[in-house]
Amino acid sequence: MRLILCENYDELSEQAAKLVASQIILKPDSVIGLATGQTPMGMYKNLVKMYERGEVDFSNITTFNLDEYYPIKRGNDQSYYYYMNENLFSKINININKTHIPDGETKNPYKECDKYEEEIKKNGGIDLQILGIGQNGHIGFNEPDVSLYTETHLTDLTRNTIEANSRFFNNEDEVPKQALTMGIATILKSKKIILLASGANKSRVVSELLNGDINTSIPATMLKVHPDVVLICDKDAYSGIRLGVDIGGTSVKFAVVEDGKLIYKSSIGSNKGSCDTFIKEIAEECIRIKAKYPYKTIGVGTPGRITDGAVTASNLPFKNTHLAKELKKYIDMSINVDNDANCAALGEFEFGIGKDMDNIIMVTLGTGVGGGIIIDGRICHGRYSMGEIGHIIVQSKGGLPCACGQTGCWEQYASVTALIREATQACIEDKDSVLYELYSKNNNKLDGKLIFDALEQNCPVAKKVFDEYIEWLVIGLKNLINIFGPDAIILAGGITKRSNILIDAVRKSLDTPVKIEISKLQNDAGALGAAML
Ligand code: PGA
Repeated sequence: MRLILCENYDELSEQAAKLVASQIILKPDSVIGLATGQTPMGMYKNLVKMYERGEVDFSNITTFNLDEYYPIKRGNDQSYYYYMNENLFSKINININKTHIPDGETKNPYKECDKYEEEIKKNGGIDLQILGIGQNGHIGFNEPDVSLYTETHLTDLTRNTIEANSRFFNNEDEVPKQALTMGIATILKSKKIILLASGANKSRVVSELLNGDINTSIPATMLKVHPDVVLICDKDAYSGIRLGVDIGGTSVKFAVVEDGKLIYKSSIGSNKGSCDTFIKEIAEECIRIKAKYPYKTIGVGTPGRITDGAVTASNLPFKNTHLAKELKKYIDMSINVDNDANCAALGEFEFGIGKDMDNIIMVTLGTGVGGGIIIDGRICHGRYSMGEIGHIIVQSKGGLPCACGQTGCWEQYASVTALIREATQACIEDKDSVLYELYSKNNNKLDGKLIFDALEQNCPVAKKVFDEYIEWLVIGLKNLINIFGPDAIILAGGITKRSNILIDAVRKSLDTPVKIEISKLQNDAGALGAAML
């Protein structure tokens, strides 16, 4: 697939028109497949201008439109029949008898589809097919489906398409629920294909198309098997500027990403008072950033549980708070919310260690143990709070109680909290140790840093505690490897940043081909991943 990246919609429209015009100039009796919708309108305007300047002669071309709603009257101003006349046919010297649009008034849609397919074949097939792309990845009206029909057929429209297209009708009920459409095979038989994508609302699907595998749930990815496809897209659709917001217990981090690069970051303190004030403060920072970096989408990572978009987090004032809806009161744009650990995993997947991998697991070691799982390039959500890896049970009998209500959860043994707890106990029992000396000098308190200081001074007490800690850490990692078989496990959190002691010990104890790495992005991973939601 060849990519033509345009600065904006005007440039996209001009580029597309030039390609269509060259096709017609080189082969005046070309068979052109035409598309409707918002995106090709600018291209049609440019073609009309070229015709008016005498640059293109349309008199010998034959056209076949991709699709038509069903049922719909030709006179309905939302029919594609009406659209083509309004936007192109009535304005150029085309032979109207050589134009074809599936008949939305037919009594027998199945026969109409067979006839349409036959007609395309009789005309020698399509030389150049123009396509738009739906937000759900449809091309024509080939909606996501495990078994995509191959040739021209009658199809049911998905809810997503009905909603997206309701902008052209008075209300959603007026949108026809079916359509007649060329099939994927009809489209793939075209000699050349131009795919147009404009606007930030297409950026997710364009990214899937460019980076993902062939997948029937994103029909446009089928185009990857065609040898001559040109994707013309504007910058907004290609990536757009995105804002990522990573809400944490102590601070909220913001990251602006453009074309896969971090271009700005900032942070504000977390307001643990009222939910409304906190959301307002986050929104105000988003608005401030927008004045300088006109981003098109916001992704938000938050701790806690998210059920049907409502967030409940114990360390923040969110209780069944619909974060996206609340933020939209201040900034009206596409806002996606996900769990913060999932966002961190996505950040590392898109920009860090996982960049060239398909499957990674991110394990964050801190107050607890958090995690995000990405398999085949997607965050795994499951039905209910998947990825709570800190709560896999590693000791069934006599396990330590956990705040979640279970006993023996992994985070009771593998978190930094657990390491400090065990180290404190051990040094109190051996007052001659370096670890105890550091503990007493620090007002009878240990932290991760002091434990590593003791390790570097070869303190046997610290070493024993640390070795046991690694054993627990490795038990959980082994479980994750056995269940998910990832390409890499990425460890993050303050203690992973301190020298190579931890990573070397883990690698030594884990006999596995799976890569065990330390997060490259660390504190930035969450906001960067949120931007890519
Ligand atoms: P749009 O539609 O150009 O109006 O966004 C494209 C499509 O749904 O194929």
